[in-house]
Amino acid sequence: MRELIKGIGNQIQEAIKIGSSARFSIPEKEIRAVIVCGLGGSGIGGRIISLLVNEELKVPFILSNDYSIPACVDEHTLLIASSYSGNTEETLYAVKEGKKRGAEIVVITSGGELLEMAQQYGWNHLVVPKGQQPRAMLVYSIVQQIYILNAYRLISSKEMDCLANVPDFLVRQRDMIHAEALRIAKFLHQKTPVIYSGSFFEGIAIRFRQQLNENAKVLCWNHVLPEMTHNELVGWAGGSDAFAVVYVKTDFDHPRTNYRWDIVKEIISKKTAYVTEIRAKGTDRLTQNFYLIHLTDWISIYLSELKQVDAIEVNIIGHLKTEMGKRK
Ligand code: F6R
Repeated sequence: MRELIKGIGNQIQEAIKIGSSARFSIPEKEIRAVIVCGLGGSGIGGRIISLLVNEELKVPFILSNDYSIPACVDEHTLLIASSYSGNTEETLYAVKEGKKRGAEIVVITSGGELLEMAQQYGWNHLVVPKGQQPRAMLVYSIVQQIYILNAYRLISSKEMDCLANVPDFLVRQRDMIHAEALRIAKFLHQKTPVIYSGSFFEGIAIRFRQQLNENAKVLCWNHVLPEMTHNELVGWAGGSDAFAVVYVKTDFDHPRTNYRWDIVKEIISKKTAYVTEIRAKGTDRLTQNFYLIHLTDWISIYLSELKQVDAIEVNIIGHLKTEMGKRK
């Protein structure tokens, strides 16, 4: 896992090559909505992208992390099916339903039944390198979605232009990222992490939580501002020493949300001293997303090492998939 995380710059470059050499066949019909269907490490890219492009995309962007798709999905919907293995049953159910409705389907996968279906039905598909843990291949899912949205003329090439600079940027930040990741891993050790971010970076906070779950084998939760200021904040009334609070700050919150941050910090600081902050770096939203993905991946690795658990294995997920396979 360390090697894969270290290789984020190469992954971005390889993913750019896959995206830029893809030959999409684009239908004449108008696309009126986008849905990304995917689970876990293959679903989170959709959430990150939906928040990244929401100031530019003119059509609704919805997510399905389940077997079903909403009733609005029809032949004018671009359905992006993202499954690294190509065999995740929820994604396959969703895609089959999308096919029945005549949706425009594009596949991101390394193989499996999803790739077979894409080849059989002539859907546009992007094949990513196989043989890794899906969550370690998030970069491919994000980059391919940018290329897909651009190919369908739903977004400009702005994000693609920013992408090219991200690998060098991350190299320049390397020492700082490692020092910061180790500091935060030590801070989280033996506590339950509670992650707060602005809502534009909810995908990143969820990814952070998922990496802590799967790599470091811990329970934790996340919530976003401004929403948490209307409910969860009250939960701090009694205080608790069990939690380690991490604020994920970026330059892209609404100015009034920044006032909320100040007040939230003031309130929580009266309930626990166990609080720290991560500051995103980079001049644009895409770079700040990648910076945070990389930093929080390293936090999960350092925490797994402090806990002396194997970051790679997810035997519990494997067990669950095997058991589900027995129930037809
Ligand atoms: C494992 C992981 C999981 C999978 C999920 C869906 O590393 O991250 O969350 O991503 O079980 O499987 P795929 O990605 O094959 O569709």
